[in-house]
Order: sequence, then structure tokens, then C-alpha cells
Amino acid sequence: MITDELVDIEIKLLMDGVYQVYGYDFREYSEASLRRRLTQWLSNSGFATFSLAQSQLLRDRALFDTLLRGITVNVSEMFRDPAFFKAVREHVVPHLKTYPFVKIWHAGCASGEEAYSMAILLLEEGFKGRFRIYATDINEEVIRKAQEGIYPLKEMQHFTRNYQQAGGTGSFSDYYTARYEHAIISPKLRENIVFAAHNLAVDSDFGEMNLILCRNVMIYFKQPLKEKVLGLLDRSLTHGGYLCLGTKESLNQRQIAGHYEAIAPRMQIYRKQYAKK
Ligand SMILES: C[S@@+](CC[C@H](N)C(=O)[O-])C[C@H]1O[C@@H](n2cnc3c(N)ncnc32)[C@H](O)[C@@H]1O
Repeated sequence: MITDELVDIEIKLLMDGVYQVYGYDFREYSEASLRRRLTQWLSNSGFATFSLAQSQLLRDRALFDTLLRGITVNVSEMFRDPAFFKAVREHVVPHLKTYPFVKIWHAGCASGEEAYSMAILLLEEGFKGRFRIYATDINEEVIRKAQEGIYPLKEMQHFTRNYQQAGGTGSFSDYYTARYEHAIISPKLRENIVFAAHNLAVDSDFGEMNLILCRNVMIYFKQPLKEKVLGLLDRSLTHGGYLCLGTKESLNQRQIAGHYEAIAPRMQIYRKQYAKK
């Protein structure tokens, strides 16, 4: 008989194996959501149990890629949480304008909507030629999608509404070309963005970012992994730089203590303090 306890053991063994063979570390992801997503993958896979799937998963990279796609939640949208982007425009952009050049990192960018939204915002705020966006994700397939910048045309109505609520100053339709059922993002947005694969659980920090967005990514992590990733983000951020989390996430008092200032608390925008002399 397969008990819940046995399934938990099988998942743990599988995640250990995945880490050792492929270097992807899901051992510190929240159990409930990981289990839900793995169970969904198993029911579509044709294997009866995780143990039976394991030996093939550890030998067959293509099969493992299907598991990877099943584990990661890649939903995103343009100007997601419009009030957040409005707050960035009002509270963060005025400071960024004082720098000759700004570097921004979207950690866990999924299919790129968030990074393109930021490129639109910065171009509208006069940053042309003065910014670079690094947009990374663990999932190489979504990074490829992000690079293509092609989205279903039917989503544009919703994205346009978000853009307007976020304080967009132009016309959203200027940022894409409609072709049949698709909207193709304007090349002028793409030229400011570098898309790359990067795993927050195991890869190293990025240098000297002025603004880091890591929204709706750490909600899937257990506390120790959250702490580890927050450390990595902190090391990648300049003093005076901004850290943005998702609306359901926050820094706790200890993490803030003397180190970060909450700029727009409900929007989860924090500013890293300058080092005390
Ligand atoms: C729900 S999406 C959030 C997308 C975007 N930031 C937003 O808020 O709309 C979460 C993304 O985090 C990525 N992710 C999960 N674990 C990761 C890790 N260890 N390193 C980097 N990205 C990760 C997933 O692949 C997924 O694309």
C-alpha cells in the first residue's frame, strides 16, 4: 500500500537524486506545493510511483526537463499588480534618475512580462540608453519564451488595463505588433534586456545592481532557502539600491533591522541603507 509517508520519502529521495545528478536543488521548496506539482506530473507521466520514475528521470535529461517544467510555476503578466509599478514610478525612479546608468535584475522573471514592463516604464521616464535589465529564471524553456517576447494577443486587453493603472504615459499598443493571434514585443524593448538561466538556490550573486525584483518566487521556498536567497540578493544590491518582493511576501523585522528601509511597505519595496561609518 502507498501511504502519504511513503510518498514523502520517495519525493525526498528523488529530490536528492535530482540535486546530485542535475544540480537543481528543490530540497528546500515548500512541501505542500512541491508535492502537489510533482503528483500532477506523475499522473501525466505513465509511471505508477516516484520510485519507478526515478531511475529513468536520473538518466534521461529530456524526461527530467518535463519534471522541471512541472515543478516551476511560471505564471506572470505585464504590469502585474499595477499599484506596485505605480509605486516604482513614484518612489524609486526619482532616485534612479540621479545615476548615470542603472542596472536592474529580475530574479525569477518567468516568460519575461515583468522585465518588458520595466523596460517600458524606464523608457517612458527618460532612461533611454542609460539602463540594462538582467532577467533570469531557473527554467530554460521560459527564458527562451521570454527572449522571443511573443504573447497571446487576447491577453493584451488585460495588459493594457494594467499598464494604464500603473501610470503608463503613452499608448500600450506602441510596444507590440499584432500578428494573427499573437502580440510581438517591440525590438526597442528587447535591446535593453539580457535574458539568462540562473538558479537562485545554487548559482552565485550578480554584481552591483541598483534595483532587484524577486516577486512571487520565494513564496515557494522554505525559510532556510528564503534566507539564503535573500543573502544572495543583498550581496548583489548596491547600497542605496532597491529590493522589491511580491505583494504576498515581506522582509521580517530582523532582516530589515538597520539594513533596509521599507519605502512603500504595502508594495514590498525596500531600500538598502548606506553602510554606517
Ligand atoms: C510565479 S513566477 C513569477 C514571475 C514574475 N516574477 C512575476 O511576479 O510575475 C515564479 C518564477 O520563479 C522561477 N523560479 C523558481 N525557482 C527558482 C530558482 N531556484 N531560481 C530562479 N528562478 C526560480 C520559476 O521558474 C518561475 O518562472
